[in-house]
Amino acid sequence: MKFKTTVSLLAVVAQASTQGYYSQYCPEPDICYRLNIPTTTAKTGKGDIFIQINSLVAYTWVAVGLGHQMAGSKIYVIYADGTGNVTVSPRLGQGHYEPMYDSKADFEVLPGTEVDGYRMTANIRCSDCTQWIGGGMDFRKDSGTWIYAALPGLPLNSDNSHDDLQMHRQYGVFDFPYLPAKGGDGTNPFLLAPAADVTLGIQGGIPPPPLHWNPDDPFAIAHGTVASLAILVLFPLGAILIRVTANRRLVWVHAGIQIAAYIVLFGAMAMGIRMATSGQLFHDKHPMIGIVIVIVLFFQACDGLLHHAQWLQNKKRRTILAYVHIWTGRLCIVVGMVNGGFGLQLAGVTDPGKIAGYSVVAVVSFLSLVAAIVYGERKRHIAQKTEREAKEQRLQTSRFER
Ligand code: HEM
Ligand code: HEM
Ligand SMILES: *[C@@H]1O[C@H](CO)[C@@H](O)[C@H](O)[C@H]1NC(C)=O
Repeated sequence: MKFKTTVSLLAVVAQASTQGYYSQYCPEPDICYRLNIPTTTAKTGKGDIFIQINSLVAYTWVAVGLGHQMAGSKIYVIYADGTGNVTVSPRLGQGHYEPMYDSKADFEVLPGTEVDGYRMTANIRCSDCTQWIGGGMDFRKDSGTWIYAALPGLPLNSDNSHDDLQMHRQYGVFDFPYLPAKGGDGTNPFLLAPAADVTLGIQGGIPPPPLHWNPDDPFAIAHGTVASLAILVLFPLGAILIRVTANRRLVWVHAGIQIAAYIVLFGAMAMGIRMATSGQLFHDKHPMIGIVIVIVLFFQACDGLLHHAQWLQNKKRRTILAYVHIWTGRLCIVVGMVNGGFGLQLAGVTDPGKIAGYSVVAVVSFLSLVAAIVYGERKRHIAQKTEREAKEQRLQTSRFER
């Protein structure tokens, strides 16, 4: 907390250098906004202003707005477009919900706008920041009230400037000093200015959250390997065993394998949670689905014991709980296999060997399970049929004897 306050105080330091006139405000160690007010705009109160938004790419979106609250403010949201550039989305805030896309916004995205390694930068010329639908700002003054907001997370990677935005996690209101920002002739003032130090977070000892988990990280490799062992090998093996074996006592082998697999999967999840926490990746589908599977499978194990007890009592018949168990189990295994693919995606794995390896094992394992189910169910039906026929025969024989 103390660190952050210090940084914020330092960050309001306005700068005027030979490279240009601008003031800078960094609400977070890894987000900075800059403002330039060309001489004519500063004098007449009409004309262009220049805004620079600069952040680590560890944000899904970053925004700045003119005004003291969302409602009525003129907003620029930026996000990575997925091809090394940045999408600038002009919006109008109306209240505590996603700001409306502003199709009338008069602005231009300028050179210097790019995603460059860790950093994304947008240089914007705003031609209607003195006056827009529902508002205006007087740049002849010494300062003005602005707002900012950001959502940490994976890059949005979208070139659609209308894209749906999830709500911010960070936001705030700040005073932008205008005096140091005044000057210049109204061409791209930030092009030659030294880049804002949004890596301050790293220098200050806070590592930036990874864009995606480094696929070569031993922790990621361990998580992936252990989870795959459970989902691709152990769970299907246990399911196949109970389907193809005639010996009903093998239910305990099944239960043993599945519970062991569960413990293995639980370990993988624990590693995953640690990764997701440090990478702020919880909102991604992969960890979400993974956690849901682990929760569901806990009840699956309980259901296994329950329906087996019923089976023993109920003249060896499948109860509803048995059907729930069978289908939940199958579903979890298949969803788990797909979710492993999402994991590779989240980690940013591009190595075709790894992707092919995972896919091949998943497909082989899935097909073996399907084959075992078909074989097992057919055997079951034949057995039931013979049993029915035998019963009928017994009935007939007894009738005949009477
Ligand atoms: C993406 C959709 C967005 C949603 C759903 C949303 C929603 C909200 C909500 C619910 C609040 C009240 C929060 C609270 O009381 O703790 C709020 C406040 C705020 N938001 Fe947003 N917001 C969005 C986008 C933005 C953007 C793009 C900005 C950018 C500049 C922004 C800036 C602010 C600020 C400064 C506040 C506090 C001042 C105020 O009450 O207006 N928001 N927002
Ligand atoms: C997390 C743990 C478990 C998982 C993922 C799991 C998964 C499965 C799956 C997928 C099947 C169906 C095989 C198929 O036809 O596709 C199945 C069947 C079965 N499971 Fe489990 N199981 C687990 C734990 C248990 C436990 C603890 C028991 C306890 C005794 C148990 C008893 C059974 C029985 C008796 C069947 C056969 C049901 C029938 O065909 O009528 N399971 N299990
Ligand atoms: C990104 O787009 C802007 C405007 O379309 C352009 O001026 C800039 O040069 C582009 N940056 C890169 C790295 O291509």
